[in-house]
Amino acid sequence: MRQKIVAGNWKMNKTLEEAKILASEVMAMVADEVKGNVKVVLCVPSPYLVPLKNQLGNSSIKIGAQNCSEHDWGAYTGEVSALMLKSMEIPYVILGHSERRQYFGENGKLLGAKVDKALAAGITPIFCCGEPLEIREAGTHEQLVKQQVEEALFHLSAEALQKVVIAYEPVWAIGTGKTATAQQAQEMHAVIRKQLASKYGEAVANEISILYGGSVNSKNAEELFSCPDVDGGLVGGASLKSREFVDVIKGMK
Ligand code: PGA
Repeated sequence: MRQKIVAGNWKMNKTLEEAKILASEVMAMVADEVKGNVKVVLCVPSPYLVPLKNQLGNSSIKIGAQNCSEHDWGAYTGEVSALMLKSMEIPYVILGHSERRQYFGENGKLLGAKVDKALAAGITPIFCCGEPLEIREAGTHEQLVKQQVEEALFHLSAEALQKVVIAYEPVWAIGTGKTATAQQAQEMHAVIRKQLASKYGEAVANEISILYGGSVNSKNAEELFSCPDVDGGLVGGASLKSREFVDVIKGMK
């Protein structure tokens, strides 16, 4: 059985005080209201990783980072390495988010190196892929997403790949309020799973959690999460409000 996951991506939002309040509200509501085996992850700004991890204590909610360096240590001012995350016992890291690709020039080769560092540190990468609007309109989205997956992940062994979570996030749906339809999400998730199966075999492909991201909210979550190849969500805006985020999580049946 694939792990069902709902991860919040807080991006660069909240003061420490606000972050602590949000985390404690989510923790209380999840404990009260969320049943079943969905894993909840909060991917928070790096300065908040340790305080929030301590605050969550032994709650079922896990903490994730939003990026890591392709290097281990050294003169890389402003960077955070996977080994640092490991030393803070952070179990998840988002890699290759479209905002990182777009604003920080991250490409497939670099992301492959970051994935390697995360895995070597025992951290689960949530690897993001997804096409911009013009590619969707040109009809070449399957090709681009397959290329993104291949470039960053296909050097991995089957054993390593099984430790990766993939998030399909069409760029045109991120922060725009424009969600992919359940059918569009399912189609792309099936394309990715088939691509994984062609290289690693069906048994491996069937074990990989593929999350959908892009304007997921409490109203559309249930329909998106009911698609057979959608194993959860990576949630931006809706993860910044506790009630809304927990209602998204509850869309995962
Ligand atoms: P959104 O962001 O839910 O605000 O569209 C998703 C993401 O960027 O991960």
